[in-house]
Parts: sequence; structure tokens; C-alpha cells
Amino acid sequence: MCSKKTVVVGVTGGIAVYKALDVISSLKKKDLDIHVIMTKNAMEFVTPLSFQSLSQNMVISDMFAEPKAFEIQHISLAKKADLMLIVPATANVIGKVANGIADDMLTTTIMATKAPVVFAPAMNTNMYNNVIVQENIKKLKSLDYKFIPPASGRLACGDIGTGKLADTNTIVETVLTMLYDKKDLVNKKVLVTAGPTISPIDPVRFITNRSTGKMGFAIAEEARDRGADVTLISGPTSLVPPVGVKYIKVETNEEMLRETLNHFEQQDIVVKSAAVADYKPKQYSTTKIKKSESELSIDFIKDTDILKTLGETKKNQILVGFAAESNDLIKNAEAKVRTKNLDYIVANDITSRDTGFASNDNKVTIITKEGKIIPMEKMTKREVARELFNLINT
Ligand code: CTP
Repeated sequence: MCSKKTVVVGVTGGIAVYKALDVISSLKKKDLDIHVIMTKNAMEFVTPLSFQSLSQNMVISDMFAEPKAFEIQHISLAKKADLMLIVPATANVIGKVANGIADDMLTTTIMATKAPVVFAPAMNTNMYNNVIVQENIKKLKSLDYKFIPPASGRLACGDIGTGKLADTNTIVETVLTMLYDKKDLVNKKVLVTAGPTISPIDPVRFITNRSTGKMGFAIAEEARDRGADVTLISGPTSLVPPVGVKYIKVETNEEMLRETLNHFEQQDIVVKSAAVADYKPKQYSTTKIKKSESELSIDFIKDTDILKTLGETKKNQILVGFAAESNDLIKNAEAKVRTKNLDYIVANDITSRDTGFASNDNKVTIITKEGKIIPMEKMTKREVARELFNLINT
């Protein structure tokens, strides 16, 4: 994100109001300028002071209060907003906006803003499914208002069904994606592979590669925020799947190969950051291998080089590989560009201690198929992802 962005958060009166505090606290940590407008009903649930403390700005509610400076508040906030988020959004506020009613501070600001407006509804299942509410949502969507759909589960009233406010992470990531400046991957399909794969030895044992998946997840998030339609195929990882991407979990080389090939043809850009296992046991033991002998030998056979397979079949896709090297970084990475028919390779020196595996940082060199060598400074994995797409898009 370039400069500090302003998010105007509208809080309306439902039991999920307390969750809006968490959303605002998380947004504030992302270095956003937050201004809260509360409806009268919202103030019956939580006092403005809580929102004021978290947003570090005065909470606005009364349209006719004496202004501190000469400015018409709903107009100045409407102009200031880079985005308006309504959380929680009740059936009432959705209905008002859909029907052009502007009778309080929040609805007048929504009416006056040119910024994108996103609603995070929360209400009883029957209310949410009510045809009038659904018609209002449909109408607003057709007018380019955005919605973060509610989740299903046990609601405050005891009913089970759709209507729970979406979780904080989903709301925050949606807001950050909408605020992202660079939208140069709109209408592009990007496939990313991440994490390790495993090669099972018996029902309880496997071999694998060191990889947390952080680099691939950062690439998927960057592509998503730039507007791409992203598919992320990942081996086992403890990371939370990014919001708004198609997420496919795999375990073995074979599963990653199958899923990658299933999606390959329709992609514009494919980034293979996964640490794929090169070998698998010649014989998988269906029963647990007992520790009867003092030594154990297992024969391994070579598994498929997924990236090489893609390189052999690619048409117009831009193909990006990674190279994890402990020596002769440039020489080895350049060889992989040729043998795997790549457009770019992102090479990293795995012997470096404060970057690479498990770290949030990486220090890479990107090599193009034309032989251009671009060494990068140490930077976060997200910044590496940004540089990579900047390069692809030049
Ligand atoms: N790769 C792959 N399938 C494999 C091995 C690697 O698709 N079986 C991909 C990785 O996702 C990465 C690139 O190939 O994008 C390079 O992986 P790397 O482990 O650095 O190299 P290898 O090709 O396995 O060669 P070596 O282990 O000999 O360095």
C-alpha cells in the first residue's frame, strides 16, 4: 500500500457489534486511518468509547451535533474514505441503503461517498434468508456494493444457520485486498504451488523437504490483491489458507502433479514455489515397518519433476520456478531455466541463516530466460512476490 488509507467503518445495531471491535483493532494494526460511525441502535450494545479507543479517532453518531471544525461531517468523511466497511450490517441498514433512505449519519455518509462500500451482514438466519433482505442484497450487488457473506453456525439467538458475522480475518483480508493500489493482474489466472510434498514410507512414516509454505502463500496473496483469479495448491503446512483464493490441499508429488495438470491449461502465470520431494520409496509398506533389525535400508526411486513436465507442455503460460541451492547459485539456477523451459527462476541460497526456510524474509536472485540476472536485497517474502510480479508485468 502506498500512503495511509482511510477506512470509514459503519457500526450498526446487532449482537455482533462486539466483533466489530476486533475487526477495527486488526485494521488499525495494518496502519490504516479508521473513522467509526455508529448508529443509535449500535450504541445500545457497546459504548462509543470502546470504538474511540481502538480507532484513535472521535466516534461519530449524531448528525446534528455541533461540529468541532467547520465541516459537514458526513460529507467530509464521505470524501475522506478510501473505503467504507459496514460491520455488522443489519437487515435494516441494508434495506435503507438499497432503497435510498438516508436518515442518519451512517446512511447519509454511505449515500454521499464515491468510495467502494462493503457490507459484512450479521443477523438471524430467517431474517437473512427473507426474500426482501435477499432482494435488497441483490440490488446493492448489481449497483457494485460489495458483500462479505455471513458464515453458518450457532447464532446468538440459539438458531443454527447462516447469519454469523464472517470471521475477522476474512473481513480484514477483504478490506486490504480492496484497498490495494496495484490492480495489474485483473482478468489473469495465476496458479501457485507451495509447501512441501511428502513421500510415505509406511502408514506412519514419510520423508519430506523443509518448507513452511510462506513464500508460496505470499505469492498467492500478492497475486490476489493485484486482482488475479488465484489457485493455490499446497502441501502440508500450518498456515491459514488466504481468503479469496481457490485452495487445494495435497500431500504427495503425485497429487500435486495431478492437481497442477488439471489447472495448468487455463492459467496465464504459474509459479512453482513448492519444495517437491524428488524421490519416493521404491516399495510402500502397507504395514508399519517394525524395528527388528539394527539397520534399515530403503530404496528410493525418482519421482516426477512437475515443473519440467509443465515446461514441456506449456503454450502461452508464463512459467516461474524456484531454485533452492547451497552452492553455485547462479550456475545451477541458470541450468534449471533451460532444462525446465522457464521464463523466470527465483534462486535462493539456502545456506543463509536469517532468510529462507521458516523466515519471513528472503534474499533472492531472479534470472530471466534471456539470461538477465537480477540480484535483490534482503526483503520480506511478500516484497519478493511484489518484485516478481512487477518484473513479469514490465
Ligand atoms: N520441482 C518440481 N518437481 C520436482 C522437483 C522440483 O516441480 N520433483 C520444482 C520446484 O517446485 C522448483 C524447481 O522445480 O520450482 C526447482 O526445485 P529444486 O528443488 O531447486 O531443484 P530440483 O529440480 O529438484 O534439482 P536439485 O534438487 O538437483 O537441485
